[in-house]
Order: sequence, then structure tokens, then C-alpha cells
Amino acid sequence: MKSFFHVSDIGDLGAALEEARQVKETPFAWKHLGENRTIMLVFFNSSLRTRLSSQKAALNLGMNPIVLNIGQDSWKLETEMGVVMDGDKSEHLREAIPVMASYCDIIGVRSFAGLQDRNFDYNETVLRQFLEYSGKPVISLESATVHPCQAFADLITIDEYKEKKRPKVVLTWAPHPRALPQAVPNSFAEWMNAADVEFVITHPRGYELDPAFAGNARVEYDQMKALEGADFVYAKNWSCPGVTDPAQYGRILSKDMGWTVDARHMAVTNDAFFMHCLPVRRNMIVSDEVIDSPRSLVIPEAANRAVSAQVVMKRMLESL
Ligand code: CP
Repeated sequence: MKSFFHVSDIGDLGAALEEARQVKETPFAWKHLGENRTIMLVFFNSSLRTRLSSQKAALNLGMNPIVLNIGQDSWKLETEMGVVMDGDKSEHLREAIPVMASYCDIIGVRSFAGLQDRNFDYNETVLRQFLEYSGKPVISLESATVHPCQAFADLITIDEYKEKKRPKVVLTWAPHPRALPQAVPNSFAEWMNAADVEFVITHPRGYELDPAFAGNARVEYDQMKALEGADFVYAKNWSCPGVTDPAQYGRILSKDMGWTVDARHMAVTNDAFFMHCLPVRRNMIVSDEVIDSPRSLVIPEAANRAVSAQVVMKRMLESL
């Protein structure tokens, strides 16, 4: 595996889930693969789960992980080509990437969408430079438009907890005080469309996900109707993807607290499991009683981040 951005990079999902089961059962069985190998984990943005689960996965595989927080541990990096670097950014990605790559075998990068320029974000301008200038396998640890390690962990969790062969999975938008990227819902939609589930997306009008990710998923604007009979409820906020109106890209169009997932919403489901990628704003995205209920999967879902990361890194090591 040369890069990990999209569901297509993992290949057959049944095989990937079987590999995830093996990794979970015997996490140290492939420790020899990472001997004398180094993974560089580059963070332009904050993280708890991605940072720790990636380090844990690398250590399970016998690798040396190096974590670099850009702008804190390093110089601030310029990401755009052709600019006069007379501001506070001391180094350009064009030099920094090959230098970082010279110290490692695999690179993981977290670089959120800026939400200012849709083309810059949706062209994955930062991640593409890592692919182009590093010459190393690159993992998106949440980039401008995708968060594949999260979506893979979500799929592993659904596979573990499903009580029927083809569960109904509902991705619901929920309110948030700040504008958030679309990477998590984009990847979740992409992966659910590829999985053997009945997939429904619900959000207020104007929040339509990019068709490259939403695919042919059913979109239901009536949240309660969408949730009827759901087996899994996946809540997430995202800002306007700018599909119907590019001028609105990255904006907050609604803070309607009627979309906060609470007991009233869960009552119309098939005693659904609740999921969220975390971090989560309690009583904005989800009520305390729902996230604290026995049907909440947020902790096992987060734990599976180490499993998904390990499968991806294992495959990269096997193809070095
Ligand atoms: N879900 C997730 O990616 O969490 P962090 O932002 O804490 O890494």
C-alpha cells in the first residue's frame, strides 16, 4: 500500500476486516516487520486519538515513531507555492518534506481544511505535496477532505457490534459552535457506501456532502424520519461543503439544537448504537444520557483507531 486516503486504497473490505480481527487478537505478531523502520507522524493540528493510536500501532509493529508538531516543535511551514515568504513562516513544505522523509520510511500527516478556499482544500494541496516530495508511503491522519483511519475504525466497530447482517446506519449532522471540516463525514460516507449496510445521511438543507463522497447514499432532510429503525446512529457536525453554493463553503448555516441527538431521537431507532469519532461537545452534538447509555460505542470506537492504524501500517511495511 503506497498511500492511505480512500476506501479504495484498502481493497477488499471483507479481507481488511478479517485482518483487523487478527491484529486485534494478536497485536504483537508482526513486530518483526517494523524492526529498524521509522514512521514520522506530522501534526499541523491538535489530536488526542490519532496521535496516540498511531504511536501505539507503530510500537506494536516494532517501529520507531517520531511525532512532530508543526509550528510548536518545528518552524512554521509555508504550504502555498509562489508566495513571497515575508511573514511568520520560516520554511517551505518543498524543503521540509524531503528533509523529513530522509529520516523515515512512512509518513503520516494531519492537516485540516482551512475552510477558506474550497479548491485549496478539495485538491488536498498539502497532502499532495507530501505524496509528491517525500517519495514515501503517506497516511492521511485527517487531511482536508478525508479521515480514512477514523472511517476504517468506524467500520470495524460496526462490524463487531452489528446484530443483523445488513444494519441500517444513519449519519446525522448535529450542531456545533465552531465551523468544522467535512473530512470525517466525507470518509464515513465513502466507507459506508462501500460496505454492506443500508446507509442514510440526514442534515439540514445546504449541508450536502460532496458527491464524490456521498455517492448514491439516500439523503433524508427529515432527521426523525431518517432515524426510524436505525441500528447505528453516527453523529457529526460539519460546516457547509459548498456543493450547492460555493460561496457558503466552510460556513455555519445552522445551530439548530433540535438536531442534537437525544433520547427523543434514539426512541425512534431500532435500539440503535450511538457513535461519534470524538472529541465531542456534550449537549451540543449528543445529550449526556445518550452518550452515557449502554448503547454508546464511543470508547470502543476510539480504541479501534489503534487497530485500523495498525492494519494500514502493517500493509505499508509489507510493501516496502
Ligand atoms: N477522532 C479523532 O481523530 O480524534 P483526534 O482529533 O483527537 O485525533
